[in-house]
Amino acid sequence: MLAQELREIYLKFFKERGHSVIASASLFPEDDPTVLFTSAGMHPLVPYLLGQPHPEGKRLTNVQKCVRTTDIDEVGDTTHLTFFEMLGNWSLGDYWKKEAITWSYEFLTSKKWLGFDPDKLSVTVFAGDKDSPRDDEAADAWRSVGIPDERIYFLSKEDNWWIAGNTGPCGPCTEMFIEVDEIARCGSDCRPGCNCGHFVEVWNDVFMSYRKLEDGSYEPLKMNSIDTGMGVERTLAMIQGVPTVFDTEFFIPLIEHVKELSSREEFTEEDNRLIRIIVDHVRSAVMIMADDRKIGPSNVEQGYIVRRLLRKAIHSADRLGIGQGFMNSLAEIVIEMFKNLYGEVERNKEFVMTSLTAEEAKFRKTLNKALRRFERIYEETGNITGEDAFLLFTSFGLPLEMTRELAEEKGIEIDMNEFTRQFEEHREISRTATQGKFKGGLAEHTEQIVKLHTATHLLQAALRKVLGDEITQNGSNITEERLRFDFTFSRKLTQEEIEEVENLVNEVISQDLEVTQEFLPYDEAIGKGALAFFKENYGETVSVYSVGEFSMELCGGPHVKHTGVLGKFRITKQKSIGAGLMRIRAIIED
Ligand code: SER
Repeated sequence: MLAQELREIYLKFFKERGHSVIASASLFPEDDPTVLFTSAGMHPLVPYLLGQPHPEGKRLTNVQKCVRTTDIDEVGDTTHLTFFEMLGNWSLGDYWKKEAITWSYEFLTSKKWLGFDPDKLSVTVFAGDKDSPRDDEAADAWRSVGIPDERIYFLSKEDNWWIAGNTGPCGPCTEMFIEVDEIARCGSDCRPGCNCGHFVEVWNDVFMSYRKLEDGSYEPLKMNSIDTGMGVERTLAMIQGVPTVFDTEFFIPLIEHVKELSSREEFTEEDNRLIRIIVDHVRSAVMIMADDRKIGPSNVEQGYIVRRLLRKAIHSADRLGIGQGFMNSLAEIVIEMFKNLYGEVERNKEFVMTSLTAEEAKFRKTLNKALRRFERIYEETGNITGEDAFLLFTSFGLPLEMTRELAEEKGIEIDMNEFTRQFEEHREISRTATQGKFKGGLAEHTEQIVKLHTATHLLQAALRKVLGDEITQNGSNITEERLRFDFTFSRKLTQEEIEEVENLVNEVISQDLEVTQEFLPYDEAIGKGALAFFKENYGETVSVYSVGEFSMELCGGPHVKHTGVLGKFRITKQKSIGAGLMRIRAIIED
């Protein structure tokens, strides 16, 4: 059985049992700033698990693309993946434990469906604690389908309780494991969940019956729901009887391609670990970038994860002697594999490809320098401090995690507090330095001045869109009442041009775009298209402010967090202040 058949029969099984098939949601959780990625099929369904009616009814099923980064540093072994697909079925206040367990058992063991040997199936159920009783109802349901007591394991919250994040809908769960004869038990207390590989978890049925609150307490939900999740890659490996997920059709073509590119004959265990890192990381980064949110590598949030994945893949490829461009050819394979399932993958192909090329070129340019610097620091001082890690991050773009890993190989643990302190300190210095340049204004930081400061960035971006990229800032001044902006341009703007600029700025204000700050090496910031004004005064690392995709400038801030707070933008005056120089005054009105 191949992956596509597994997806199809899973959905068919639950469709036949009254479930509506819903689409996979984005990898970027909506309205949930507490997590970076959709990490399970239930994630987009949280409001419905809490009681809101779902438009498709009370029984749902789907295939959800997921990313989990908690074990990112474990990738390279034979089991961990960052991107994976999850099959799921949900009952929103409808059927309960008995039906969920009976169907799970039928789908796993019936010859008509997956046909696993029932004797190879073991399950775990919740042992009970002060928050919730022992789950005898689930255990009884397993007994009634024929699972003997010796294959029903009662485990604690650590193993048998599911929640996405820290708060929200949650409850005891029951996990299903297939025994792999080829992998010996690790000892007499080998059991499902011990992670030795003898028992492989394929499915988890969660009995959502509580809501965990901020104070750590559990409040019963008004309705009980079922949330199940079955990992496609892992289950497929079990069905196909292959030892690992990397032996399934998801990874075989990627691994073969990497091996060809490396032009080696023999691969050591360490080489194979690097290969698994490359294929997992590129696959994940491609799927993240292919999402309609179009987030490429950056130094913040999801973009930083993309950068981390790609840079680790490049470093690993380097160690295997693989040359430039390998990520794009791997991405072609990934895109081909997923384009018919997830329309966005084809839609955003160009964005993915250009982002990969740019990131690889950028990182390869500095990687060797970074590694040489790392070695030099180590040789000279016998240590890698938090400050060194910060320098390698800001000046060479070496992800912190890579520095930590390289240090670990030398038996050094990096002082994270020192790294964070440097980061904070730098933020302060960069802010102060730039503020000094804005004479008369920004040091005061009043709300109105901060708003006008953001408006100045929007004005510059709008002017460039309307008049062309050749216009550059020549000076700026802000008071409580107005902003003043000088720029290179040789004539007055027409009334239409003024209106167009105003409209563009007001549109961005009405879109309430987020204003974000990141720290980048100067060259990298400029390479990304950030506008710089005080060229000679910037240090190696600069602070960059972006307003959505609309504006990006080197600047120490401060700025508003969202453009929506600015009010209405209006240009009040323009005049020529010398050959090729124009001055605009503008205000924002409530
Ligand atoms: N949410 C549960 C899990 O991810 C079941 O889908 O394991």
